[in-house]
Amino acid sequence: MKTETKPQIRHNVPLLDLKEQYATIRDEVQSALAAVFDSQQFIFGPQLQALEQEIAAYCGTRFGIGVGSGTDALLLSLRALGVGPGDEVIVPAFTFFATAECVSLLGATPVFADIQLSTFTLDPESVAAKLSPRTRAIIPVHLYGQAADMNPLLELARKHKLHMVEDNAQALGATYHGQRTGAMADAGCISFYPTKNLGAWGDGGMVVTNSEAVAQRLRSLRDHGSAHKYLSQEVGWNSRLDEIQSAVLRVKLRHLDEWNRQRRSHAAAYDSQLRGVAGLVTPQLGGWGDHVFHQYTIRVPHRDAVQKVLSARGISTAIYYPVPLHLQPAYASLHYQPGDLPQSERASAEVLSLPVFAEITDAQITSVSDALRESLAR
Ligand SMILES: Cc1ncc(COP(=O)(O)O)c(C=O)c1O
Repeated sequence: MKTETKPQIRHNVPLLDLKEQYATIRDEVQSALAAVFDSQQFIFGPQLQALEQEIAAYCGTRFGIGVGSGTDALLLSLRALGVGPGDEVIVPAFTFFATAECVSLLGATPVFADIQLSTFTLDPESVAAKLSPRTRAIIPVHLYGQAADMNPLLELARKHKLHMVEDNAQALGATYHGQRTGAMADAGCISFYPTKNLGAWGDGGMVVTNSEAVAQRLRSLRDHGSAHKYLSQEVGWNSRLDEIQSAVLRVKLRHLDEWNRQRRSHAAAYDSQLRGVAGLVTPQLGGWGDHVFHQYTIRVPHRDAVQKVLSARGISTAIYYPVPLHLQPAYASLHYQPGDLPQSERASAEVLSLPVFAEITDAQITSVSDALRESLAR
């Protein structure tokens, strides 16, 4: 295809518009925040306590433990499960860097497995091929808002006595055979980064778990290893979810199912408008539950050129993620080579995420679809 752009109609379609979302919840959030300001209690207060219970109930788990970010949720969960130096943890090569980074920060080694290109999630066969006597845990990632195929992964974990931590940063509200993501393994890690389907007004995260022991350990680790004030049982960390973020999140949680429903409906609109476009692959459903479309991610050949054409027309898109983790400079010392994990590498070369936020209009979806169709017909 040619990449030059003739003068074209310019649309204005952002990838995400948080101001539009704010307009729909402004009064609710402002009154919730006013209550926090009046209380002048900012850390470990009633908002966090309530949010932890509400998120745990939403996910169908016994416990929720608020922490400072999704990254901390992963790091502290792995630590609570005893992952440390000498251990190997299997992670998908196609995910955000934090998934593997937390493994490395604990002195363990991330072992990269491939994904299934159809769903962009961890391939159980590739995981099975990567098992070694040092494997301690597996981290499936529910990428873009769709659950990984958990049953075969849980079976592998059971058979080989491995821990499992779900990276649920992108998929709060998604389901797998009727269960909410995050509730199926030893721990489920949520990110409340502002752009997430349930986004805070800053950083935030939470771990959900059914294990009382894991919950207790996490409560200690997030607060300097102390179960009691000024008495540290171990070296922990400071990773807390504050009252302001908790209050905002509690308001937004009441809207999450509706926002996720709207995202699904926008995804269906894209599916029908993009059906049959040569060379373009729309997101595939695994058939095991609800997708919450944190991203609506297509695959296209000549992806970078297509993105340029859309950008020239005022349409924002994103590439999550252009370099798979096994080929990141930070992991050069692990000596992976191009070709080692072909599905992850192909995904990195072809993926393009289109705007799919809850408030996007039908007209904007049509503009994106038309521009995409035209860019591929050139
Ligand atoms: C798959 C995945 N894992 C982990 C994280 C880390 O979350 P946070 O940015 O809240 O630390 C993110 C968020 O960007 C993510 O998308």
